[in-house]
Amino acid sequence: MRELSLNVMDIVQNSVTAKATFIEIIVKEITNDSLLSINDSLLSIIIKDNGCGMSEKQLKNVTDPFFTTRTTRSVGLGIPLFKMEAEQTGGSFSIDSEIGLGTTLKANFVTSHLDMTPLGNINSTVSILIRCNPDIDFLYRRSIDDKSFDLDTKELRQVLGNDVPLNSSEVMQWIDEYLKEQTQNLIGGKDNNEIIG
Ligand SMILES: Nc1ncnc2c1ncn2[C@@H]1O[C@H](COP(=O)(O)OP(=O)(O)OP(=O)(O)O)[C@@H](O)[C@H]1O
Ligand SMILES: [Mg+2]
Repeated sequence: MRELSLNVMDIVQNSVTAKATFIEIIVKEITNDSLLSINDSLLSIIIKDNGCGMSEKQLKNVTDPFFTTRTTRSVGLGIPLFKMEAEQTGGSFSIDSEIGLGTTLKANFVTSHLDMTPLGNINSTVSILIRCNPDIDFLYRRSIDDKSFDLDTKELRQVLGNDVPLNSSEVMQWIDEYLKEQTQNLIGGKDNNEIIG
């Protein structure tokens, strides 16, 4: 997979299958010119859902590509691939889950590493997820150093009322423009195509 945003799509698909009603996607970036004056730029991706969760045994096996509850084929690759993408940059990966409560995945990437996979078009991933799952609430939070923005579909629903579905073309157009504008604000003067994807 050549874009982390495609891994995100895959991981969120697991949350949808797990019957989540609320999914958070948090993409945080710390650049090496930030106030922290660290040596490496870091990207962290957190995906949190309130779906059915996993048992301890499932959780232990979940990073093993030969473990899956799928019946159509025996190999699940979503999580092992995401873990590999993070670890190959010298980053880290963790997953927490509790039956009935939900699941949280965290992946940290060292963005300066040669094996860093570009984030890609994360705005498009978020937009497609909302369009395809109009009954699920999403919180997408994006930050670079001390700047951040949120797209919160719960808030949008409150403003729109119950009669307007989130995936109506007007609302989707607004969402796409909002994501684009906010991302540009975030990047500001930074000349960084990797960040936008
Ligand atoms: N968010 C989640 N909530 C509950 N169970 C999960 C979640 N994510 C993964 N799982 C469990 O872990 C298994 C492995 O997930 P993974 O994404 O690696 O493979 P898969 O979804 O089975 O197949 P693939 O992603 O390759 O289509 C899933 O089959 C599911 O049982
Ligand atoms: Mg999967």
